Amino acid sequence: MSHRADKGGEGVNAPEALLSVQGLQKHFPVTKGLLKRQIGAVRAVDGVSFDVRQGETLGLVGESGCGKSTTGRLVTRLMEPTAGKIFFEGHDITHMSQSKIRPLRRDIQMIFQDPYSSLNPRHTVGAIVGAPFRIQGVQTEQGTKKAVQEILELVGLNPEHYNRYPHEFSGGQRQRIGIARTLALKPKMIIADEPVSALDVSIQAQVVNLLEDLQNELGLTYVIVAHDLSVIRHISDRVAVMYLGKIVELADRKSLYDSPMHPYTNALLSAVPIPDPARRKDRERIRLQGDVPSPLNPPPACRFHTRCWKAQVICKTEEPPLAELAPGHQVACHFPENVEQATAPAAAKVAQNVEEALHPKKPVV
Ligand SMILES: Nc1ncnc2c1ncn2[C@@H]1O[C@H](COP(=O)(O)OP(=O)(O)OP(=O)(O)O)[C@@H](O)[C@H]1O
Ligand code: SF4
Ligand SMILES: [Mg+2]
Repeated sequence: MSHRADKGGEGVNAPEALLSVQGLQKHFPVTKGLLKRQIGAVRAVDGVSFDVRQGETLGLVGESGCGKSTTGRLVTRLMEPTAGKIFFEGHDITHMSQSKIRPLRRDIQMIFQDPYSSLNPRHTVGAIVGAPFRIQGVQTEQGTKKAVQEILELVGLNPEHYNRYPHEFSGGQRQRIGIARTLALKPKMIIADEPVSALDVSIQAQVVNLLEDLQNELGLTYVIVAHDLSVIRHISDRVAVMYLGKIVELADRKSLYDSPMHPYTNALLSAVPIPDPARRKDRERIRLQGDVPSPLNPPPACRFHTRCWKAQVICKTEEPPLAELAPGHQVACHFPENVEQATAPAAAKVAQNVEEALHPKKPVV
Protein backbone atom coordinates (compact mmCIF):
# COMPACT_ATOMS: atom_id res chain seq x y z
CA MET A 1 0.00 0.00 0.00
CA SER A 2 1.37 3.38 -0.90
CA HIS A 3 1.63 5.87 1.94
CA ARG A 4 0.07 8.75 0.11
CA ALA A 5 -3.31 10.22 1.07
CA ASP A 6 -6.16 7.71 1.16
CA LYS A 7 -7.22 7.22 -2.42
CA GLY A 8 -10.41 5.28 -1.81
CA GLY A 9 -13.64 6.46 -3.38
CA GLU A 10 -14.41 8.08 -6.70
CA GLY A 11 -14.18 11.68 -5.44
CA VAL A 12 -14.33 14.66 -7.79
CA ASN A 13 -10.60 15.18 -7.39
CA ALA A 14 -9.77 11.52 -8.02
CA PRO A 15 -6.51 11.37 -9.98
CA GLU A 16 -6.59 10.41 -13.62
CA ALA A 17 -6.49 6.68 -14.33
CA LEU A 18 -3.09 5.46 -15.53
CA LEU A 19 -4.72 2.26 -16.76
CA SER A 20 -8.33 1.87 -17.76
CA VAL A 21 -9.84 -1.48 -18.72
CA GLN A 22 -13.31 -1.60 -20.24
CA GLY A 23 -15.39 -4.71 -20.91
CA LEU A 24 -12.26 -6.85 -21.34
CA GLN A 25 -12.82 -10.42 -22.54
CA LYS A 26 -10.59 -13.38 -23.27
CA HIS A 27 -12.24 -16.53 -24.60
CA PHE A 28 -9.95 -19.50 -25.33
CA PRO A 29 -11.43 -21.62 -28.12
CA VAL A 30 -11.89 -25.33 -27.39
CA THR A 31 -11.45 -27.42 -30.54
CA LYS A 32 -12.11 -31.04 -31.48
CA GLY A 33 -10.90 -33.47 -34.16
CA LEU A 34 -8.32 -33.20 -36.91
CA LEU A 35 -10.07 -30.21 -38.45
CA LYS A 36 -9.92 -28.44 -35.10
CA ARG A 37 -13.58 -27.54 -35.20
CA GLN A 38 -14.45 -25.11 -32.39
CA ILE A 39 -16.90 -26.73 -29.99
CA GLY A 40 -16.85 -24.14 -27.25
CA ALA A 41 -14.76 -21.54 -25.45
CA VAL A 42 -13.22 -21.13 -22.01
CA ARG A 43 -14.53 -17.74 -20.91
CA ALA A 44 -11.47 -16.95 -18.79
CA VAL A 45 -12.13 -13.19 -18.63
CA ASP A 46 -15.67 -12.21 -19.47
CA GLY A 47 -16.32 -8.47 -19.41
CA VAL A 48 -14.04 -6.94 -16.81
CA SER A 49 -13.82 -3.16 -16.24
CA PHE A 50 -11.62 -1.26 -13.78
CA ASP A 51 -9.35 1.78 -13.49
CA VAL A 52 -5.95 1.97 -11.82
CA ARG A 53 -4.91 5.43 -10.71
CA GLN A 54 -1.41 6.82 -10.82
CA GLY A 55 0.54 5.70 -7.72
CA GLU A 56 -2.05 3.31 -6.30
CA THR A 57 -2.07 -0.46 -5.79
CA LEU A 58 -5.04 -2.43 -7.04
CA GLY A 59 -5.29 -5.94 -5.62
CA LEU A 60 -6.96 -8.63 -7.74
CA VAL A 61 -8.23 -11.64 -5.75
CA GLY A 62 -10.31 -14.75 -6.33
CA GLU A 63 -10.13 -18.53 -6.34
CA SER A 64 -7.91 -20.48 -8.70
CA GLY A 65 -9.04 -20.28 -12.33
CA CYS A 66 -11.16 -17.10 -11.97
CA GLY A 67 -9.09 -15.26 -14.60
CA LYS A 68 -6.63 -13.19 -12.54
CA SER A 69 -3.47 -14.15 -14.47
CA THR A 70 -5.24 -13.87 -17.82
CA THR A 71 -6.34 -10.33 -16.89
CA GLY A 72 -2.70 -9.49 -16.02
CA ARG A 73 -1.43 -10.92 -19.31
CA LEU A 74 -4.04 -9.03 -21.32
CA VAL A 75 -3.18 -5.73 -19.66
CA THR A 76 0.55 -6.22 -20.35
CA ARG A 77 -0.38 -7.12 -23.95
CA LEU A 78 1.24 -10.56 -23.67
CA MET A 79 -2.10 -11.84 -24.99
CA GLU A 80 -4.63 -10.50 -27.50
CA PRO A 81 -8.06 -9.82 -25.98
CA THR A 82 -11.22 -11.26 -27.55
CA ALA A 83 -13.11 -8.02 -26.88
CA GLY A 84 -12.99 -4.88 -24.78
CA LYS A 85 -10.58 -1.97 -24.53
CA ILE A 86 -7.36 -1.19 -22.66
CA PHE A 87 -6.22 2.42 -22.23
CA PHE A 88 -2.81 3.36 -20.83
CA GLU A 89 -2.18 7.04 -20.10
CA GLY A 90 -5.32 7.74 -22.12
CA HIS A 91 -4.07 5.92 -25.26
CA ASP A 92 -5.93 2.94 -26.65
CA ILE A 93 -3.36 0.10 -26.55
CA THR A 94 -5.82 -2.77 -27.08
CA HIS A 95 -4.56 -3.83 -30.49
CA MET A 96 -1.36 -1.80 -30.73
CA SER A 97 1.03 -3.25 -33.33
CA GLN A 98 4.29 -4.95 -32.32
CA SER A 99 6.35 -2.02 -33.65
CA LYS A 100 4.40 0.53 -31.61
CA ILE A 101 4.26 -1.63 -28.50
CA ARG A 102 8.02 -1.49 -27.84
CA PRO A 103 8.01 1.70 -25.74
CA LEU A 104 4.96 0.37 -23.88
CA ARG A 105 6.93 -2.74 -22.87
CA ARG A 106 9.21 -0.39 -20.90
CA ASP A 107 6.31 1.32 -19.17
CA ILE A 108 4.34 -1.77 -18.10
CA GLN A 109 6.32 -4.66 -16.63
CA MET A 110 5.26 -7.98 -15.17
CA ILE A 111 6.59 -9.92 -12.15
CA PHE A 112 5.82 -13.63 -12.23
CA GLN A 113 4.96 -16.05 -9.46
CA ASP A 114 7.76 -18.56 -9.67
CA PRO A 115 11.21 -17.09 -9.00
CA TYR A 116 12.72 -20.48 -9.96
CA SER A 117 11.40 -20.94 -13.48
CA SER A 118 11.21 -17.27 -14.46
CA LEU A 119 15.02 -16.78 -14.34
CA ASN A 120 17.26 -18.43 -16.94
CA PRO A 121 19.62 -20.71 -14.94
CA ARG A 122 22.43 -20.33 -17.51
CA HIS A 123 22.56 -16.53 -17.30
CA THR A 124 24.32 -14.53 -14.60
CA VAL A 125 22.38 -12.04 -12.49
CA GLY A 126 24.12 -9.26 -14.41
CA ALA A 127 22.93 -10.67 -17.75
CA ILE A 128 19.37 -11.20 -16.47
CA VAL A 129 18.90 -7.74 -14.96
CA GLY A 130 20.79 -6.11 -17.86
CA ALA A 131 18.75 -7.92 -20.56
CA PRO A 132 16.02 -5.24 -20.81
CA PHE A 133 18.69 -2.62 -21.64
CA ARG A 134 20.02 -4.80 -24.48
CA ILE A 135 16.59 -5.81 -25.82
CA GLN A 136 15.38 -2.22 -25.88
CA GLY A 137 18.74 -0.91 -27.17
CA VAL A 138 19.01 1.48 -24.21
CA GLN A 139 22.46 3.01 -23.52
CA THR A 140 23.07 4.22 -19.98
CA GLU A 141 25.44 7.05 -19.13
CA GLN A 142 27.53 5.07 -16.68
CA GLY A 143 27.39 1.79 -18.63
CA THR A 144 25.03 -1.18 -18.20
CA LYS A 145 27.09 -2.89 -15.47
CA LYS A 146 27.01 0.14 -13.20
CA ALA A 147 23.28 0.64 -13.86
CA VAL A 148 22.55 -3.02 -13.05
CA GLN A 149 24.59 -2.86 -9.85
CA GLU A 150 22.62 0.19 -8.72
CA ILE A 151 19.36 -1.67 -9.27
CA LEU A 152 20.67 -4.70 -7.36
CA GLU A 153 21.43 -2.41 -4.45
CA LEU A 154 17.96 -0.84 -4.71
CA VAL A 155 16.29 -4.25 -4.27
CA GLY A 156 18.54 -5.19 -1.34
CA LEU A 157 20.99 -7.46 -3.19
CA ASN A 158 24.76 -7.24 -3.06
CA PRO A 159 26.08 -5.50 -6.23
CA GLU A 160 29.13 -7.79 -5.98
CA HIS A 161 26.83 -10.69 -6.93
CA TYR A 162 26.67 -9.44 -10.52
CA ASN A 163 28.47 -12.53 -11.87
CA ARG A 164 26.60 -15.15 -9.84
CA TYR A 165 23.97 -17.56 -11.20
CA PRO A 166 20.33 -17.87 -10.01
CA HIS A 167 20.91 -21.27 -8.32
CA GLU A 168 23.27 -19.56 -5.87
CA PHE A 169 20.36 -17.57 -4.41
CA SER A 170 17.42 -18.36 -2.10
CA GLY A 171 13.78 -18.07 -3.24
CA GLY A 172 13.35 -14.60 -1.73
CA GLN A 173 16.60 -13.37 -3.30
CA ARG A 174 15.55 -14.78 -6.67
CA GLN A 175 12.29 -12.88 -6.49
CA ARG A 176 14.39 -9.76 -5.76
CA ILE A 177 16.34 -10.51 -8.97
CA GLY A 178 13.00 -10.80 -10.82
CA ILE A 179 11.90 -7.45 -9.37
CA ALA A 180 15.29 -5.89 -10.27
CA ARG A 181 14.80 -7.03 -13.88
CA THR A 182 11.40 -5.31 -14.09
CA LEU A 183 12.84 -2.07 -12.66
CA ALA A 184 15.70 -1.83 -15.16
CA LEU A 185 13.89 0.46 -17.59
CA LYS A 186 12.07 2.56 -14.99
CA PRO A 187 8.52 1.32 -15.63
CA LYS A 188 5.43 3.33 -14.68
CA MET A 189 3.33 0.30 -13.85
CA ILE A 190 4.08 -3.21 -12.58
CA ILE A 191 1.66 -6.12 -12.82
CA ALA A 192 2.76 -8.67 -10.21
CA ASP A 193 1.18 -12.12 -10.58
CA GLU A 194 1.30 -13.91 -7.21
CA PRO A 195 4.67 -12.28 -6.44
CA VAL A 196 5.11 -13.94 -3.03
CA SER A 197 2.99 -17.09 -3.06
CA ALA A 198 5.92 -19.37 -3.96
CA LEU A 199 7.98 -18.02 -1.04
CA ASP A 200 8.23 -19.09 2.61
CA VAL A 201 5.85 -17.11 4.81
CA SER A 202 8.81 -15.56 6.67
CA ILE A 203 10.22 -14.23 3.39
CA GLN A 204 6.86 -13.06 1.98
CA ALA A 205 6.72 -10.00 4.28
CA GLN A 206 10.21 -8.92 3.21
CA VAL A 207 9.30 -9.00 -0.49
CA VAL A 208 5.96 -7.24 0.14
CA ASN A 209 7.80 -4.53 2.10
CA LEU A 210 10.32 -4.19 -0.72
CA LEU A 211 7.49 -3.68 -3.24
CA GLU A 212 6.01 -0.97 -0.99
CA ASP A 213 9.34 0.79 -0.51
CA LEU A 214 9.97 0.77 -4.25
CA GLN A 215 6.51 2.18 -4.88
CA ASN A 216 7.14 5.08 -2.52
CA GLU A 217 10.63 5.71 -3.84
CA LEU A 218 9.90 5.41 -7.56
CA GLY A 219 6.22 6.44 -7.70
CA LEU A 220 5.18 3.08 -9.17
CA THR A 221 1.62 1.97 -9.84
CA TYR A 222 0.83 -1.69 -9.10
CA VAL A 223 -1.74 -4.31 -9.97
CA ILE A 224 -1.07 -7.19 -7.59
CA VAL A 225 -2.69 -10.54 -8.33
CA ALA A 226 -3.00 -12.93 -5.38
CA HIS A 227 -5.31 -15.49 -3.87
CA ASP A 228 -4.08 -14.69 -0.35
CA LEU A 229 -6.41 -12.09 1.14
CA SER A 230 -3.98 -11.22 3.95
CA VAL A 231 -1.27 -10.24 1.45
CA ILE A 232 -3.80 -8.26 -0.61
CA ARG A 233 -5.05 -6.47 2.51
CA HIS A 234 -1.55 -5.46 3.47
CA ILE A 235 -0.51 -4.07 0.11
CA SER A 236 -3.62 -2.76 -1.70
CA ASP A 237 -5.29 0.64 -1.80
CA ARG A 238 -8.30 -0.82 -3.61
CA VAL A 239 -9.33 -4.43 -4.17
CA ALA A 240 -11.22 -6.15 -7.00
CA VAL A 241 -12.73 -9.58 -6.28
CA MET A 242 -13.11 -11.87 -9.29
CA TYR A 243 -15.38 -14.89 -9.72
CA LEU A 244 -15.50 -16.96 -12.91
CA GLY A 245 -14.11 -14.29 -15.24
CA LYS A 246 -16.01 -11.33 -13.77
CA ILE A 247 -15.42 -8.68 -11.12
CA VAL A 248 -18.11 -9.13 -8.45
CA GLU A 249 -16.93 -6.45 -6.01
CA LEU A 250 -14.52 -3.51 -6.20
CA ALA A 251 -13.89 -1.14 -3.32
CA ASP A 252 -11.23 0.61 -1.31
CA ARG A 253 -9.45 -1.75 1.04
CA LYS A 254 -11.13 -0.59 4.23
CA SER A 255 -14.70 -0.79 2.91
CA LEU A 256 -14.08 -4.17 1.34
CA TYR A 257 -12.57 -5.77 4.43
CA ASP A 258 -14.77 -4.02 7.02
CA SER A 259 -18.11 -4.25 5.19
CA PRO A 260 -17.99 -6.59 2.21
CA MET A 261 -21.22 -6.46 0.21
CA HIS A 262 -20.95 -9.47 -2.08
CA PRO A 263 -21.72 -12.85 -0.46
CA TYR A 264 -18.70 -14.37 -2.24
CA THR A 265 -16.34 -11.75 -0.76
CA ASN A 266 -17.89 -12.40 2.63
CA ALA A 267 -17.24 -16.12 2.28
CA LEU A 268 -13.63 -15.56 1.20
CA LEU A 269 -13.00 -13.17 4.11
CA SER A 270 -14.61 -15.51 6.62
CA ALA A 271 -11.86 -18.04 5.87
CA VAL A 272 -8.99 -15.62 6.61
CA PRO A 273 -7.41 -16.36 10.01
CA ILE A 274 -7.81 -13.56 12.60
CA PRO A 275 -4.89 -13.37 15.04
CA ASP A 276 -6.98 -11.65 17.77
CA PRO A 277 -8.96 -14.42 19.65
CA ALA A 278 -11.56 -11.88 20.92
CA ARG A 279 -12.48 -10.84 17.37
CA ARG A 280 -12.22 -14.42 16.09
CA LYS A 281 -15.19 -15.46 18.26
CA ASP A 282 -17.46 -12.89 16.55
CA ARG A 283 -16.92 -14.25 13.11
CA GLU A 284 -18.67 -17.19 11.60
CA ARG A 285 -16.86 -19.22 8.94
CA ILE A 286 -18.92 -19.49 5.74
CA ARG A 287 -18.17 -22.75 3.99
CA LEU A 288 -18.86 -22.53 0.27
CA GLN A 289 -20.65 -25.56 -1.12
CA GLY A 290 -19.31 -27.31 -4.20
CA ASP A 291 -16.51 -26.41 -6.58
CA VAL A 292 -16.16 -23.39 -8.84
CA PRO A 293 -18.22 -24.21 -11.98
CA SER A 294 -16.38 -24.61 -15.30
CA PRO A 295 -15.64 -21.38 -17.21
CA LEU A 296 -16.51 -23.45 -20.32
CA ASN A 297 -20.13 -23.39 -19.32
CA PRO A 298 -20.63 -20.81 -16.55
CA PRO A 299 -24.01 -20.65 -14.77
CA PRO A 300 -26.42 -18.10 -16.31
CA ALA A 301 -27.30 -14.74 -14.72
CA CYS A 302 -25.39 -14.46 -11.43
CA ARG A 303 -22.50 -16.91 -11.86
CA PHE A 304 -22.27 -17.39 -8.11
CA HIS A 305 -25.87 -18.61 -7.74
CA THR A 306 -24.94 -22.32 -7.69
CA ARG A 307 -22.97 -21.76 -4.46
CA CYS A 308 -24.77 -18.81 -2.89
CA TRP A 309 -26.87 -19.35 0.24
CA LYS A 310 -28.89 -16.20 -0.54
CA ALA A 311 -29.83 -17.13 -4.13
CA GLN A 312 -33.40 -16.41 -5.25
CA VAL A 313 -35.15 -16.91 -8.58
CA ILE A 314 -34.00 -13.53 -9.93
CA CYS A 315 -30.35 -14.60 -9.38
CA LYS A 316 -30.84 -17.41 -11.92
CA THR A 317 -32.60 -15.28 -14.51
CA GLU A 318 -31.11 -11.77 -14.36
CA GLU A 319 -27.44 -10.89 -14.22
CA PRO A 320 -26.81 -8.35 -11.44
CA PRO A 321 -24.87 -5.38 -12.89
CA LEU A 322 -21.68 -4.18 -11.19
CA ALA A 323 -23.25 -1.09 -9.61
CA GLU A 324 -21.86 1.56 -7.26
CA LEU A 325 -23.95 0.94 -4.13
CA ALA A 326 -21.85 3.10 -1.80
CA PRO A 327 -19.34 5.81 -2.81
CA GLY A 328 -16.46 4.03 -4.60
CA HIS A 329 -17.89 0.61 -3.69
CA GLN A 330 -19.11 -1.43 -6.67
CA VAL A 331 -20.98 -4.71 -6.23
CA ALA A 332 -22.73 -7.16 -8.57
CA CYS A 333 -25.46 -8.72 -6.41
CA HIS A 334 -29.26 -8.51 -6.15
CA PHE A 335 -29.18 -9.08 -2.37
CA PRO A 336 -25.93 -7.56 -1.08
CA GLU A 337 -24.75 -7.72 2.53
CA ASN A 338 -24.03 -4.67 4.71
CA VAL A 339 -26.65 -2.61 2.86
CA GLU A 340 -26.59 -0.03 5.63
CA GLN A 341 -23.43 1.25 3.88
CA ALA A 342 -25.34 1.73 0.61
CA THR A 343 -26.68 5.06 -0.65
CA ALA A 344 -30.43 5.56 -0.14
CA PRO A 345 -31.49 4.71 -3.76
CA ALA A 346 -29.30 1.57 -3.78
CA ALA A 347 -30.65 0.43 -0.40
CA ALA A 348 -34.23 1.04 -1.64
CA LYS A 349 -33.56 -1.09 -4.74
CA VAL A 350 -32.19 -3.92 -2.58
CA ALA A 351 -35.24 -3.69 -0.28
CA GLN A 352 -37.47 -3.92 -3.37
CA ASN A 353 -35.57 -7.03 -4.57
CA VAL A 354 -35.98 -8.64 -1.15
CA GLU A 355 -39.69 -7.80 -1.11
CA GLU A 356 -40.21 -9.27 -4.58
CA ALA A 357 -38.25 -12.40 -3.66
CA LEU A 358 -40.39 -12.93 -0.54
CA HIS A 359 -43.68 -12.11 -2.29
CA PRO A 360 -43.24 -12.86 -6.02
CA LYS A 361 -45.83 -11.27 -8.30
CA LYS A 362 -45.85 -14.29 -10.62
CA PRO A 363 -46.11 -17.82 -9.26
CA VAL A 364 -42.69 -19.49 -9.15
CA VAL A 365 -42.57 -22.84 -10.98
N1 LIG B 1 -3.87 -20.61 -22.79
C1 LIG B 1 -5.01 -21.08 -22.31
N2 LIG B 1 -5.81 -21.90 -23.04
C2 LIG B 1 -6.99 -22.37 -22.57
N3 LIG B 1 -7.48 -22.07 -21.35
C3 LIG B 1 -6.74 -21.26 -20.57
C4 LIG B 1 -5.47 -20.72 -21.00
N4 LIG B 1 -4.96 -19.95 -19.98
C5 LIG B 1 -5.87 -20.00 -18.98
N5 LIG B 1 -6.93 -20.79 -19.32
C6 LIG B 1 -8.11 -21.06 -18.51
O1 LIG B 1 -8.70 -19.81 -18.19
C7 LIG B 1 -9.20 -19.83 -16.84
C8 LIG B 1 -8.57 -18.69 -16.07
O2 LIG B 1 -7.17 -18.96 -15.92
P1 LIG B 1 -6.18 -18.01 -15.12
O3 LIG B 1 -4.83 -18.61 -15.22
O4 LIG B 1 -6.34 -16.63 -15.62
O5 LIG B 1 -6.74 -18.11 -13.64
P2 LIG B 1 -6.13 -17.58 -12.26
O6 LIG B 1 -7.21 -16.81 -11.59
O7 LIG B 1 -4.84 -16.89 -12.50
O8 LIG B 1 -5.90 -18.94 -11.45
P3 LIG B 1 -4.72 -19.35 -10.45
O9 LIG B 1 -5.07 -18.72 -9.12
O10 LIG B 1 -4.81 -20.84 -10.41
O11 LIG B 1 -3.42 -18.85 -11.01
C9 LIG B 1 -8.90 -21.22 -16.28
O12 LIG B 1 -10.04 -22.00 -16.43
C10 LIG B 1 -7.77 -21.70 -17.18
O13 LIG B 1 -7.81 -23.12 -17.28
S1 SF4 C 1 -27.08 -12.11 -7.05
FE1 SF4 C 1 -28.08 -13.71 -5.83
S2 SF4 C 1 -26.87 -15.57 -6.18
FE2 SF4 C 1 -25.66 -13.82 -6.86
S3 SF4 C 1 -24.41 -13.33 -5.11
FE3 SF4 C 1 -26.21 -12.03 -4.99
S4 SF4 C 1 -27.67 -13.18 -3.72
FE4 SF4 C 1 -26.08 -14.61 -4.35
MG1 LIG D 1 -2.87 -17.28 -11.93
